[in-house]
Amino acid sequence: MAATASEQRARPTGSAQQSPAPHRAAQRRRGLQAGIFGVGAALPEHVVTNADLVERLDTSDEWIVRRTGIRERRIIAPDQPLSELAARACALALEDAGRTAAEVDQIIVSTITPDRVTPGVAPYVALALGAEHASAVDVNAACAGFVYALDQAAAQIESGRARVVLVCGAEALSRITDHDDRGTAMLFGDGAGAVVVAGGELEIGCGGFVLGTDATQADMLYAERDEQKLRMEGREVYRHAIARMVAATSEAIERAGLTIDDVDLFVAHQANVRILTATANELGLPPEKLMVNIDRVANTSSASIPLALAEAERDGRLKPGAIVALSAFGAGFVWGSGIVSWKERTHVCA
Ligand code: UT7
Repeated sequence: MAATASEQRARPTGSAQQSPAPHRAAQRRRGLQAGIFGVGAALPEHVVTNADLVERLDTSDEWIVRRTGIRERRIIAPDQPLSELAARACALALEDAGRTAAEVDQIIVSTITPDRVTPGVAPYVALALGAEHASAVDVNAACAGFVYALDQAAAQIESGRARVVLVCGAEALSRITDHDDRGTAMLFGDGAGAVVVAGGELEIGCGGFVLGTDATQADMLYAERDEQKLRMEGREVYRHAIARMVAATSEAIERAGLTIDDVDLFVAHQANVRILTATANELGLPPEKLMVNIDRVANTSSASIPLALAEAERDGRLKPGAIVALSAFGAGFVWGSGIVSWKERTHVCA
């Protein structure tokens, strides 16, 4: 479906974009396709460095950097609702896409740390944005939640049930971290990132998603309702993470009708820099195609991919039309990979 002139909206600050080279997927996919048109990120102000952790844990900056790649993380203030961070990321994503809150049909927030057991975070985001016509729902798929939420948003758009969907990953992991456990305390951080998903006549859009789960491994990474602390068999999680992300990403690339050489940037859940490097290596991706920002934000679960997307664009590593491979793995086990084109068009159907 081509956008008519009245349906087209220009991005507020964007300059003319080049049409990306046609891909094989374009020949197979027809009709309205979902794509990403805006991105936003919000981090808490408070920085906790490895040196801060060394003051109260039996660890060292050298160990943390060598084994995880993390140098510092952001921690949310005790009295700050996570929904505030999420709303800020969503507002920035809307502005980036040249959209208003009134146009949003649905808000999907991926989180395992909502401010209250119920309601979830998404209804508060709708309220803060003034998104009066939006429906709102939280997704709980741990670190893979953003990929799941993006897949669901794409399905809403492509089925015609929604025209504009906000997808947000927001986490306050510091609230469910055992700060006395040196095996996990250094890993986690807080933050929120969001993208605007809408429809257009796109060549790739949200081109191929592969999702999976295996709850036989659920005891490897979990938080109990009573204790509310993340517990993890790090080595086992590490091993499974690489294998599942490699397999899912390879399949997603194939489903999108692409090859590994078509991928411009690999933006995976920032769990551990060694996991990222090993996964990229096994996929056959050169280091310059791997996005890494774990050094500054640590592991922010489902916020990590949209945070990394925002940073990659800010640093000039993501240009319109770029092919991005997303991948995440976490508690459940639940994992997912997706192939998306980055802001493939300036104009979208509405
Ligand atoms: O986001 C969801 C998915 N999560 C992940 O993907 C995380 C996956 N796992 C990991 O990233 C890594 O397993 C960790 C970073 C959590 C741990 O690294 P590791 O290289 O797997 O260490 P390990 O757990 O095998 O422990 C090795 C040693 C142990 O000492 P011994 O038993 O060999 O004497 C630990 O006690 O390192 C010790 N250790 C530490 N030493 C200093 C564990 N944590 C620390 C620490 N500082 N913070």
